[in-house]
Amino acid sequence: MDAALAAGVAGIVGQCGGAINCATCLCNFEDNQLPLLPPAHPDETELLSYVDEASTNSRLACQLIGSPALNGLVAQVVLSIASPND
Ligand code: FES
Repeated sequence: MDAALAAGVAGIVGQCGGAINCATCLCNFEDNQLPLLPPAHPDETELLSYVDEASTNSRLACQLIGSPALNGLVAQVVLSIASPND
C-alpha cells in the first residue's frame, strides 16, 4: 500500500494507515495469483466480510508486503470503496 500511495495510484486511500480498520486499500487479484499471497490475518478476513465490494479474490493492500516472490503480481484496485467506518 505504501508503494501505491507513493506512486499516487488512484483508489488507494489508506485511511487507517494499515491498521485493518477502513478497507480503503481494497484490491482484487486473479485466481491464479491468490496462492502467491500470504495468508490473510483473521482481522483482515473479518473486515473484508463487512465490505460489500469485497469478493473471495479481495485483499487489503496494506497487509501485503512487497517481496521478490510477488514480482509480476497485478492488483485490481477497487475505485469506489467507502470506509465501513464512515
Ligand atoms: S489502509 Fe485501512 S485497511 Fe488497509
